[in-house]
Amino acid sequence: MKNFGNVVEFEELRSYFYTDVGTVKAVDGVTFDVPKGKTVGIVGESGCGKSVTSLSLMRLLQGPQGQIAGGEIRYNQSSKHRTVDLAKISQKEMEEIRGNEIAMIFQEPMTTLNPVFTIGDQIDECIEHHNPKMKKEEIKARTIEMLKLVGIARTEGIYQSYPHELSGGMRQRVVIAMALCCNPQLIIADEPTTALDVTIQAQILDLLRELKNKINASIMLITHDLGVIAEMADYVVVMYAGRIVEQGTAKEIYQEPLHPYTIGLMKSRPILNESVDRLYSIPGNVPNPINLPEHCYFKNRCEKCMVRCNGAYPRMISITSTHKVCCYLHDKTVRIYHH
Ligand SMILES: Nc1ncnc2c1ncn2[C@@H]1O[C@H](COP(=O)(O)OP(=O)(O)OP(=O)(O)O)[C@@H](O)[C@H]1O
Ligand SMILES: [Mg+2]
Repeated sequence: MKNFGNVVEFEELRSYFYTDVGTVKAVDGVTFDVPKGKTVGIVGESGCGKSVTSLSLMRLLQGPQGQIAGGEIRYNQSSKHRTVDLAKISQKEMEEIRGNEIAMIFQEPMTTLNPVFTIGDQIDECIEHHNPKMKKEEIKARTIEMLKLVGIARTEGIYQSYPHELSGGMRQRVVIAMALCCNPQLIIADEPTTALDVTIQAQILDLLRELKNKINASIMLITHDLGVIAEMADYVVVMYAGRIVEQGTAKEIYQEPLHPYTIGLMKSRPILNESVDRLYSIPGNVPNPINLPEHCYFKNRCEKCMVRCNGAYPRMISITSTHKVCCYLHDKTVRIYHH
């Protein structure tokens, strides 16, 4: 590890899909840290590589097309006092870590829940799997405790219920309880509230925020909604077409967004109690991930585009020790020629 205060360090991660029509560079040189006990928000439009980044970490990329093509995902495995590169360890070693030390909450709760077993059975099984010596009564007690932790009342009734008997919000609470039942070091939440109604979304976010203070886990929160991140994250990573274009503390990103893409995302964020005729959306489309240009990928959609932007893909510029941006506007080492 570069820093033992981190639980994960991504370094130059590249994850590609080798398809019949060409190589999709879904993630192409991504470097960022997830500090212990902190929440890192990953944001960007659809297709920018957020899920592929987290699936790479969990080693759940769809093979044989999907492959980690390069880079490292260093993981500070405190249970064994060692650092492992998740990009390279065996599937067997990964199975011990996945769901145990690193848990995942998906957008759609039914991807995690099995429709034919009761909620109680499913959480019990999860606890039993990770604690084979635990007694039946102890397991059930822990399951009930987890259900209470995620704000479920009438736990005995829910324990006996099947997933289809619960509402979407309740199911997502159950999934969160399942993710937490093994005391993970890291929780990956990929669009955990997108499938829910706005009011329920707010409840689940409140729950996650509350849990964040109760448990000492790091959270990687993936969303296309900067509003969600503002409420939750300590650090923000902004992705565009498989690369990071800006990163910093949440305060830096909200108070002083620098990349024209981040500024565009900010403008397209709905603001509570403010009525607008039409929500702003950044004009233009994300480039084809199979044939990415040599220059900045955002160039054709950028309001601030300059002649310089026709050159090589811009390098990452450090503005502060935490705030970094990948844009010629902020590169003081090159002369800027305006149109
Ligand atoms: N199995 C696959 N085969 C080929 N390409 C894929 C596959 N999975 C993802 N991709 C491509 O990888 C890129 C990144 O996808 P990813 O799912 O990470 O996006 P995302 O940022 O999570 O988007 P969303 O907000 O829609 O969930 C996209 O261009 C996508 O089409
Ligand atoms: Mg996704």
